[in-house]
Amino acid sequence: MDRKYDIILFGATGFTGKLVAEYLSNHAYTENISWAIAGRDAEKLIDVSNTLSENKPAIITADINDVISLRNMVSQTKILMNTVGPFNIYGKDVVTSCIESGTHYLDITGEPSFVADLYNNHFQSATGYKACIVNCCGFDSIPADFAAWLTAKNYPFTNPKH
Ligand SMILES: NC(=O)c1ccc[n+]([C@@H]2O[C@H](COP(=O)([O-])OP(=O)(O)OC[C@H]3O[C@@H](n4cnc5c(N)ncnc54)[C@H](OP(=O)(O)O)[C@@H]3O)[C@@H](O)[C@H]2O)c1
Repeated sequence: MDRKYDIILFGATGFTGKLVAEYLSNHAYTENISWAIAGRDAEKLIDVSNTLSENKPAIITADINDVISLRNMVSQTKILMNTVGPFNIYGKDVVTSCIESGTHYLDITGEPSFVADLYNNHFQSATGYKACIVNCCGFDSIPADFAAWLTAKNYPFTNPKH
């Protein structure tokens, strides 16, 4: 994939987005990652950038209510990280823009109906465009992931001796 950025973080002005921006700022350099922060308000994005001490990101404006701006944003990156929620309300056009441009997508949704809708309605097209869609990354999804992992690990049929 020949793209300007490895990662664009959409929603970087929000509570969670700022935490992710700080993490990327501290780690992108060591991993040699090119990245940008995105949101609807350029001044707020500049404020976020000014709080970062290392590896300043580029700034991109995009608004949920402007699909062309979403397409322009996602076409510039290999991976879009999305922290703009609620995802049932704001997420669909971001994901479909990613799928149609073959951009991999990550989010932090904790909304099962959003995940189900994507799976039921967009699995085929995501597969066709070779776009990976990964929901529920980190934060309060981690305990549920651990519980599933522990259940699978200890389930008698997967490990008959225990
Ligand atoms: N699963 C989990 O573990 C987990 C953990 C934390 C959060 N979440 C979810 O993640 C979402 C974000 O939470 P948060 O606490 O970070 O929220 P937040 O502080 O309110 O941030 C929301 C972000 O969305 C942006 N936004 C809103 N409307 C937009 C639009 N029309 N176009 C572009 N950007 C827009 C905001 O931009 P402005 O700054 O311009 O308003 C802001 O950057 C929520 O849905 C929350 O439930 C999930």
